[in-house]
Amino acid sequence: MVIRERFTDKVAIVTGAGGDIGREIARRFAREGAVAVIADINLKAARETKKLIDEEGGRAQVVQVNLLKSEEIRNLVQAVIRENGRIDILVNNAGIGERTTLLETREEMWDLIMAVDPGSVFRCTKYAAPEMIKRGGGKIINIASMMGMIGMGSPSYSAAKGAIIAMTPIVAAELGPHKINVNTVCPGFILTKLNRSMLETRIGDQVIEKIPMRRIGRTEDVAALVTFLASDDADYINGAIIPLDGGMGRFLDLGEDYRTYDPFREMKEN
Ligand SMILES: NC(=O)c1ccc[n+]([C@@H]2O[C@H](COP(=O)([O-])OP(=O)(O)OC[C@H]3O[C@@H](n4cnc5c(N)ncnc54)[C@H](O)[C@@H]3O)[C@@H](O)[C@H]2O)c1
Repeated sequence: MVIRERFTDKVAIVTGAGGDIGREIARRFAREGAVAVIADINLKAARETKKLIDEEGGRAQVVQVNLLKSEEIRNLVQAVIRENGRIDILVNNAGIGERTTLLETREEMWDLIMAVDPGSVFRCTKYAAPEMIKRGGGKIINIASMMGMIGMGSPSYSAAKGAIIAMTPIVAAELGPHKINVNTVCPGFILTKLNRSMLETRIGDQVIEKIPMRRIGRTEDVAALVTFLASDDADYINGAIIPLDGGMGRFLDLGEDYRTYDPFREMKEN
């Protein structure tokens, strides 16, 4: 069997790769030949990801970084260049959120979510892109959320993810001439540690009813799309905002009565 490694000797930074989605993305890159750089504030979780990659025979580098701090991001970029000589792929995956109403949202949380979610996309892109430009190109993939596209979730999280979506086309336009593709993935419900307990209750069944594919997304679904966007096959995709939600975000269920009501029945009958 011929196994095509799409990322042999490429270097892929994945922020937040100590978490469930970032971990799966980092593992997929490593399985396909890349050096996966696990950039996370949580050193223990980052090392767990590295251990999994080591066990699978892949290559990984752990860099502890607080993405709120520009200096730490510059150090991350330098550490990756020192160790591997290049940055080919940046996945801006790290993010935080909350579940509150507008009236309950605390101002400190609003500021923090903005600083971590779109803030880290801005800072990581700003400091990693020059290295890609020097090497003649690269791929940047942001992880936003379906909640940045439709009225769902909390105001702070939706606004934060919406900001990532809004900056994508303009950053893509700036970096495109340098052969850097910038695209944003908007996952819907993905089964992770954070939401497993909720999705395993009645709420999970209600959610699945609203998803045309009739299942919750998996971290593997995200890793598959992200690695496709990072591959040569996606060389002409730039500035795209791609929902990954089983069709949920563009489907408004007005209920059984509406779905089965035929306004033309009377006309047909006459
Ligand atoms: N889980 C879902 O259903 C879902 C759906 C849509 C979008 N997303 C997005 O996908 C991404 C990953 O989600 P997840 O479920 O794996 O989350 P997670 O909480 O498991 O992982 C996020 C990781 O980011 C790291 N991180 C947070 N703040 C940081 C900082 N200041 N500096 C460095 N690292 C930091 C955390 O340590 C953690 O390891 C997030 O951006 C999230 O908003 C998740």
